[in-house]
Amino acid sequence: GSYEHLLVSKPAPGVRLLTLNRPKALNALNNALVSEINHAITTANQDKEIGAIVITGSERAFAAGADIKAMKDLNFAKAYGGNFISHWSDQINSRKPIIAAVNGYALGGGCEIAMMADILYAGDKAVFGQPEIKLGTMPGAGGTQRLTRAIGKVRAMELILTGRNFTAQEAFDWGLAARVFPAEKLLDEAVKAAAEIAGNAPLAVMACKDAVNQAFESSLSTGVRYERNIFYGLFGSEDRREGMTAFVEKRKAEWKGE
Ligand code: HXC
Repeated sequence: GSYEHLLVSKPAPGVRLLTLNRPKALNALNNALVSEINHAITTANQDKEIGAIVITGSERAFAAGADIKAMKDLNFAKAYGGNFISHWSDQINSRKPIIAAVNGYALGGGCEIAMMADILYAGDKAVFGQPEIKLGTMPGAGGTQRLTRAIGKVRAMELILTGRNFTAQEAFDWGLAARVFPAEKLLDEAVKAAAEIAGNAPLAVMACKDAVNQAFESSLSTGVRYERNIFYGLFGSEDRREGMTAFVEKRKAEWKGE
């Protein structure tokens, strides 16, 4: 489809690239932009040709936060009663992996959208932060939860209470970013990783993502049991048989997605 604030392309086989495109507002997120992201992710999930999704912004900004101009006149009734931002977390429902490729500012809701991705790659000049405190408010799209799980309580607490920004290198050192690349190479590297994922057996990719996510939702023993049950389930897939047979026959596996 074609969108107002989002560019959609296919930069490599199996890869859907979503580029936030609201340059005049540094990709500030409003309901329309987030709905477009969600729609594009749903479409990619329905497309058999697509195995992984990359979400990125511009070199200047991944996204500078929720649109402050749109939020300024909200009140409690409109926010709570209208279920404001409830759909902003919908990307976590994607069964296909999402890589966030972050150059420039990823602030507030921008940082939160990036943290919802399955893998976060940062350009070396990326600037992360949860500056909501400086607006007299707080993170509202998972920032207090996902940042804390990713980097630990004392670091998250310090960042969220001061509102200070942090660098790509800090994001990497603390385990929020999986890799850091020179800014101009970031997108290519993200697309390359997405293509590699898309080249793997789709059901196994889905199962891996599901099981890793379970690690955040349960005790270790419950999680390990959850993993083992999905592992058993994959013995019911044709691709599992093909993968192991191809290894034994010293040839490349051909996945069917079944
Ligand atoms: C609306 C924004 C915006 C935002 C930037 N703009 N961020 N508009 N909402 N979050 C607009 C500016 O108003 C300006 O528009 C244009 O983008 C360019 O920004 P400048 O400020 O002129 O650029 P610069 O001086 O380079 O500074 C960049 C910046 C700064 C440091 C990123 O824009 C900034 O501090 N932005 C706000 C960051 C922030 O507080 N994010 C958290 C938002 S709260 P005009 O029309 O003036 O040219 C949030 C809540 C999440 O995210 C919880 C619920 C999801």
